[in-house]
Amino acid sequence: MNTIFYKLGGAITILFLVVLLPLGFVMLEIFNNYNHTHLKEETEEMASQYAIMLSAADRLDVDLLVDSMSTETVREIIVFDQTETIIESSGMESFSPRKKSSGTEEIGSYIDPKTNQHYFYAGKPVLDNAIASIYVFSPSNMMSSSAVRVQNALWLSGLGSLLLALGFTFIFSKKLTNPLQMMEKTAKKLARGDLNTKVPVTTRDELGSLARSMNELARELKRYRDNRREFFSNVSHEFRTPLSYIQGYSHALKNGLQQNEDQRQQFIHIIHDEANRMNRLIEDLFELSRMEEERFPLELELVHLGHIAQKAVEKVRPSAGDKEITLVTEIEEDIPDIVGDSFRLEQIFMNLLQNAVRYTEHGCVRVKVLAEDGKVIGTVSDTGLGIASEEIPHIFERFYRIEKSRARDFGGTGLGLAIVKQLTELQYGTIDVESCDGKGTTFTLCFPEAREGDE
Ligand SMILES: Nc1ncnc2c1ncn2[C@@H]1O[C@H](COP(=O)(O)OP(=O)(O)OP(=O)(O)O)[C@@H](O)[C@H]1O
Ligand SMILES: [Mg+2]
Repeated sequence: MNTIFYKLGGAITILFLVVLLPLGFVMLEIFNNYNHTHLKEETEEMASQYAIMLSAADRLDVDLLVDSMSTETVREIIVFDQTETIIESSGMESFSPRKKSSGTEEIGSYIDPKTNQHYFYAGKPVLDNAIASIYVFSPSNMMSSSAVRVQNALWLSGLGSLLLALGFTFIFSKKLTNPLQMMEKTAKKLARGDLNTKVPVTTRDELGSLARSMNELARELKRYRDNRREFFSNVSHEFRTPLSYIQGYSHALKNGLQQNEDQRQQFIHIIHDEANRMNRLIEDLFELSRMEEERFPLELELVHLGHIAQKAVEKVRPSAGDKEITLVTEIEEDIPDIVGDSFRLEQIFMNLLQNAVRYTEHGCVRVKVLAEDGKVIGTVSDTGLGIASEEIPHIFERFYRIEKSRARDFGGTGLGLAIVKQLTELQYGTIDVESCDGKGTTFTLCFPEAREGDE
């Protein structure tokens, strides 16, 4: 049996006792009061009737009468004469009337010193010269049979409801603990790495929502594990290519076979490029991991997004010129500041602009910055290759590149947009992309404008 059952059962029993005991006590008091009143009335009535019977009876029959009255009614009876001497008694002899003037009525209670029995009594005058009064004594613990039945029913119902409560506790605690035990088992399985387990969700209450949360946790863990696997395989894949280039060309250089100076220079150039590429890869990865762990230091200040975009445009202008791409800017001067890190915002624009130039053969790359509804919006659009709609959901993933073989010709590693997204979100912004395959792409950045009091 589980502790919840004991705890719940204990609590219910205590509650029960706290409520039932005083209630029972009060009911018993009421019941006793009722019974005593009834008993006193009955005793008085009997005394009156016996007094009438005695006054009509023969002096010699008193003995017989008292005997039969007493045995029939299970009461003690004493008959006094004018001098308060006992003429006849059913057994109790220690009593003497309190009211000394004989022939008066008297009621009260009395404890027999011999038996310690408590009695209610009633004394009535008898209209007879020899007999003065008759006293009838009813034991105070005497109850009528209907009263006994009521008392028994009270006891039974108390006991019954206690048993019922315990039964309910048992069923209820079972209902409560079964899913909990199941969840405990699942949690242990998850801890052992079995991430395909699921807890059945059977109710819509807190337990059900706990089960749902556990399933969600399992799903997240699985996604995390799969991501990590994929990440490591991507990383090793990305490093393998430049490394094999470096190995191959350095080997050729070392052997120095059939090479002229031009070729050697070309090999050295390739080795240098590939080493640079690896270096950039490591830097990008390091930055990304710091951003994901939210350990990324940002120097937040009030900045003009338009000025930052303009700076980035100037930096990519030479590479755009190489490809005969026109760079067009539509930057509004009169826009509110935003809160951001100017260096990182420039990095975002640089990444988007480099992509735009890289994936555009001819046409134009347009940069817009404007303010709208409390937001500052920056867009980078091009008339380049475009992105197919099924690729769009993935382009912000790490290492995701479209047409992987060709992407290498462009020199990309697929980390740029992942970094852009992280950086944007770290600065309270959002990034969206719209694209038409073969026609061009537009990236839209949206940052909340700075409010008063922002620094
Ligand atoms: N403006 C664009 N037009 C067409 N395709 C794009 C554009 N921007 C990104 N892409 C596609 O999205 C992929 C992911 O872009 P991302 O910037 O993350 O990587 P990358 O440019 O390949 O490498 P990196 O930026 O790390 O050097 C790119 O490989 C490219 O195929
Ligand atoms: Mg890129």
